[in-house]
Amino acid sequence: MDKMIVHGGRTLQGEVSISGSKNSALPILAATLLTRERCIIEHVPDLSDIHYMLTILSMLGCEVERASGVVQVKASHINTEAPYEIVRKMRASVCILGPLLGREHAATVSLPGGCVIGDRPIDLHLRGFEDLGATVQVKGGDIHILASHLQGATVNLRGKYGPTVLGTGNIMMAAVLADGMTIIDGAAEEPEVTDLAEVLIKMGAKIHGAGTSRIVIEGVKELSGFTHTVIPDRIEAGTFLIAGAIAGTTLTVSQVIPHHLEALLSTLADAGFDLVTQKDSITITSNHLKKPVQIETHPFPGFATDLQAQLCAMLSTIQGVSTIREHIFPQRFMHLAELKRMGANIELDGATATIIGVNQLSGAPVMASDLRASAALILAALAADGVTEISRVYHIDRGYEGIDKKLNKLGAYIQRSSPDISY
Ligand code: EPU
Repeated sequence: MDKMIVHGGRTLQGEVSISGSKNSALPILAATLLTRERCIIEHVPDLSDIHYMLTILSMLGCEVERASGVVQVKASHINTEAPYEIVRKMRASVCILGPLLGREHAATVSLPGGCVIGDRPIDLHLRGFEDLGATVQVKGGDIHILASHLQGATVNLRGKYGPTVLGTGNIMMAAVLADGMTIIDGAAEEPEVTDLAEVLIKMGAKIHGAGTSRIVIEGVKELSGFTHTVIPDRIEAGTFLIAGAIAGTTLTVSQVIPHHLEALLSTLADAGFDLVTQKDSITITSNHLKKPVQIETHPFPGFATDLQAQLCAMLSTIQGVSTIREHIFPQRFMHLAELKRMGANIELDGATATIIGVNQLSGAPVMASDLRASAALILAALAADGVTEISRVYHIDRGYEGIDKKLNKLGAYIQRSSPDISY
């Protein structure tokens, strides 16, 4: 298993170009199942989660080609069963349910198992499919969904922790080929949902209101192929901005949509950083007046849960008392114990972390538990004194395209070590 060895204390500076969004690309790839025609997707990041999705599409019978960020999919003839061996590797596999149901009126996909960032049910997705007239059965660890025909309906996707992002995508993808009108109330407003809706509209779907909490879909008979460029990854961009905050002088993230990052930008401004936003770039400049902040994670346009761990690493280095309250995944705090190993002073009470900034983090052997926790450990390691050895970095390769290479270009010193053959 690869490790990352981060030599702390180097100053970051320069410009980094942001890759295509993982969380946009995954449901867009699933949407290719809705048509027999060729679909071309550009700016697809080279990540293991994308690789899993392409494998699933191939297993379902799609022709899949990939060359330097461009993926072509042709789903002429497909089957409707995705087995556990591949689905278990990635929770986002559930987003094939909607398109399979929409096109074939049937889907069998393994129920995703537990997840380290907390309990992640898909009850809202399944209830939405039932609202559209499908029957859902969970048997032998698999979800079986069948519909003699899909009928547009009003579907409420607001759950205990707010709207569901992949659930909204799933219901949209099933409803575009249903008879009549579907109204999604409590829809997720994330930019990734809007990007997916844009793709579906290019395919001939009739969708209004994506990006708001009420999406209206008028079903159509069939959909065509499309060409689409995936939006930039706002979470990768946010992670690099926080890297600039924690270890940089002046750092620019380019090829971004600044509007997708407003909540983070206002938090960084509150923490005392200077930010300059241009049409498709953001520059952060670090100064000496860093301040603690109080934040809460919320669905878009609120502060993203996917940046919570990284912000936590940054706040560990800012004098004073900061707090972070996690509303989306209340148990998403696996990074705290590892950050404490690096000298961070953090108390967790329920879903609220109180962070008392320390003068200096110190390098230590730590373990990545999930994608964003891994990113937080890398960020903390950049600011730490000495060397940090991060194990289980396969988590980071799920969602960050060459993060070590990109950081090294900015002045960091990160090495990867190959598996230790002694175990
Ligand atoms: N929820 C339910 N029932 C459901 C679905 C969700 O109760 O049927 C709850 C979840 O447990 C959670 C909340 O609703 O408390 C929001 O979950 P959501 O369904 O929105 O999450 P998701 O769609 O499965 C996507 C991203 C996550 C990101 C969340 C929240 C993808 C592939 N994943 O997951 O990204 O944290 O939205 O913004 O789009 C990541 O990239 O590291 C990541 C985990």
